[in-house]
Amino acid sequence: IFDQCVCIILCLLVCLNLGHSHPKGEDPHDAKPDRCKGIEFDAITPDEKGNTFFFKGDHLWKGFSGPAELSNNIFNELDDSHHLGHVDAAFRMHHQDDLNVHDHIYFFLDDKVFSYYNYTLEQGYPVEIQQEFPGVPSHLDAAVECPKGECITDSVLFFKGNEIYSFDIKTKSVKKKVWAHLPNCTSAFRWLEHYYCFHGYNFTRFHHVSGDVTGTYPKDARNYFMRCGEGFGHGDGARRQRCSEVKLNAITTDDKGRSYAFQDAMYIRLDTHRDGSHHFPISRLWKEISVVVDAVFNYGDNMYIIQGDQVYIYKSAVHYTLIEGYPKPLKEELGIDGPVDAAFLCPNQHIVNVIQGQKMYDIDLAATPRAVKMERPIPFPEIDAGFCDADGVKVFIGPEYYSYQSPMILAMGKIKPAPQKISPEKFGCEK
Ligand SMILES: *[C@@H]1O[C@H](CO)[C@@H](O)[C@H](O)[C@H]1NC(C)=O
Ligand SMILES: *[C@@H]1O[C@H](CO)[C@@H](O)[C@H](O)[C@H]1NC(C)=O
Ligand SMILES: *[C@@H]1O[C@H](CO)[C@@H](O)[C@H](O)[C@H]1NC(C)=O
Repeated sequence: IFDQCVCIILCLLVCLNLGHSHPKGEDPHDAKPDRCKGIEFDAITPDEKGNTFFFKGDHLWKGFSGPAELSNNIFNELDDSHHLGHVDAAFRMHHQDDLNVHDHIYFFLDDKVFSYYNYTLEQGYPVEIQQEFPGVPSHLDAAVECPKGECITDSVLFFKGNEIYSFDIKTKSVKKKVWAHLPNCTSAFRWLEHYYCFHGYNFTRFHHVSGDVTGTYPKDARNYFMRCGEGFGHGDGARRQRCSEVKLNAITTDDKGRSYAFQDAMYIRLDTHRDGSHHFPISRLWKEISVVVDAVFNYGDNMYIIQGDQVYIYKSAVHYTLIEGYPKPLKEELGIDGPVDAAFLCPNQHIVNVIQGQKMYDIDLAATPRAVKMERPIPFPEIDAGFCDADGVKVFIGPEYYSYQSPMILAMGKIKPAPQKISPEKFGCEK
């Protein structure tokens, strides 16, 4: 009897609530979904500014925190004229060769595709999916971009059931694959060069070419892609380190323009911060490196990683591959004993500047055998990391850095510049 009473009271409350007026545009039967209750998303995509949108029914969430809102508040025409009530799939186009499509967001609804830029529907849309993506089926489950360098050519991966349609943007050719081992994805998302298939409230990271899954999956999305408070999250994507706690071990940019900062056993990518930043284990990109690194620099298409008295040299292509015969003793490779504090090479130089305590050593990488050519003092007892680009040299000590025009000016050290703080914009940390 008690249960029945509770039920009647609940029913009354629900009925009364239905009678209330609702904000314009809200469907009273469709309460705001709560993504911390475990949502199966219809689609996930970043926009051209790097905001991530999660879609469910006629609602969306912008970013990794915050409440749901109606999709057509932001993407006006998406639902207004069609009343489809959901998005099947969405992705952000990566195709720098064609500025008419680059960074546009594509939405797939039943058999139609919509293209948006600057939150505005492009003229002429929607069109039939096959008109723009011939060979790709209607009623998709998920879609994700796969830019050149990760896929062989600029591509889009479309998902329907356990079938994957890999669409080459330039040639408009399609390759169909079956990834039976991967759960059927209801949405797919590329985040910081990693690919995620979302299914239920879980996600599984997969390899964008082979579909392979390595590591322990599925994982609960609420621990990684949203802030759900108590009981969720652990050193995850949604939580970031405070800038005042940053203490780098090394920082470098490779010949492909990819910048990395290393801290403890983790790295973060610095040049893709539009889409957010995240610490990943170093061993994810440099398989043989399992512990903290001392210094990293790039010379041509080689990345030198110094750890204790050893140096690892990686060839940088799409992936980093350890060159045969490495690691080798630092003494043998550079003519200097480890450990070192930092190492950097300025653009178009053959001289690597290696810092050890208060000394900076110049080593000519074009000479054989390599040996210290010059030794100079620097005005710091100990630095964490050093970096040189077209703007000059930066010396990192804890959450601060000092800028110099050149290694020579650093070594002269007559005037110590004011320290600058590591910023959220550049390092993806939290203020
Ligand atoms: C984006 O759209 C807004 C209005 O919605 C407009 O004011 C702004 O100029 C547009 N920006 C670009 C880059 O087109
Ligand atoms: C996945 O999709 C395939 C069709 O491609 C279907 O046969 C299968 O039942 C689906 N699996 C699940 C778990 O829904
Ligand atoms: C999510 O993954 C866990 C394993 O990590 C599994 O036990 C659970 O059934 C999954 N739930 C859904 C809805 O896929």
